Amino acid sequence: MTDAQSFYGRWARVYDWLASVPGVASWRDRTAAALALDPGDTVVEMGCGTGANVPALRERVGPAGRIVGVDVTREMLDRARDRPARTGGSVHYVQADASRPPVRGADAVLATFVAGIFEDPAAAVDAWCDCVASGGRVALLNFQRSQSALAAPLNLAFEGFVRLSAPGTRLSTRSHASAFERRVRAARERLTARTVDRRYETMAGGFVGLLSGTVT
Ligand SMILES: C[S@@+](CC[C@H](N)C(=O)[O-])C[C@H]1O[C@@H](n2cnc3c(N)ncnc32)[C@H](O)[C@@H]1O
Repeated sequence: MTDAQSFYGRWARVYDWLASVPGVASWRDRTAAALALDPGDTVVEMGCGTGANVPALRERVGPAGRIVGVDVTREMLDRARDRPARTGGSVHYVQADASRPPVRGADAVLATFVAGIFEDPAAAVDAWCDCVASGGRVALLNFQRSQSALAAPLNLAFEGFVRLSAPGTRLSTRSHASAFERRVRAARERLTARTVDRRYETMAGGFVGLLSGTVT
């Protein structure tokens, strides 16, 4: 069992509650919007957790669209599967390692609050881009320290936030926040290298960043 599986297996119920608090829904909606989905499209979510993005995705792909959720933690998928009403109908959930996703030819891929977990985030992003048909979009949503001067006190709290929320303590440096941000940066750099028509936006006072692009 990986660090992520034991961490999220233990915290699935609490995570499910946190994942759906009001306010977070608008970040999820903007992420789904960045994918430029059409009705009938196939969208794959890497590290889908308890399915909190599904309503925003279903709204865009419609009843004929296909949503595939890939996650390595059985307890998170169990919660997602228990919520057909919230997730608006049938979703194909697959328990698998998202760094080797068992999918090809999708119209879009998203990974929200996931890239910072991977030891080799650039390789994971490569695999995600390879899942998407040419012209499809990939979106990464992540927490980060804010660049805003007003956010300085909260940036101090970011270290504690990462220590509590990042599975495992293999972020082998004194600053977990820095290690976490290095991973997110590596993921974003690889997405930048693999895509055109990129869009970057921040939310929550700069503490959440969304990068999306079109795979060539
Ligand atoms: C912070 S949660 C994010 C869940 C969801 N994307 C959301 O926005 O609510 C991270 C998720 O990534 C999953 N995860 C971690 N490592 C993974 C891997 N190698 N392959 C697939 N899923 C993974 C965890 O099980 C967990 O459900």
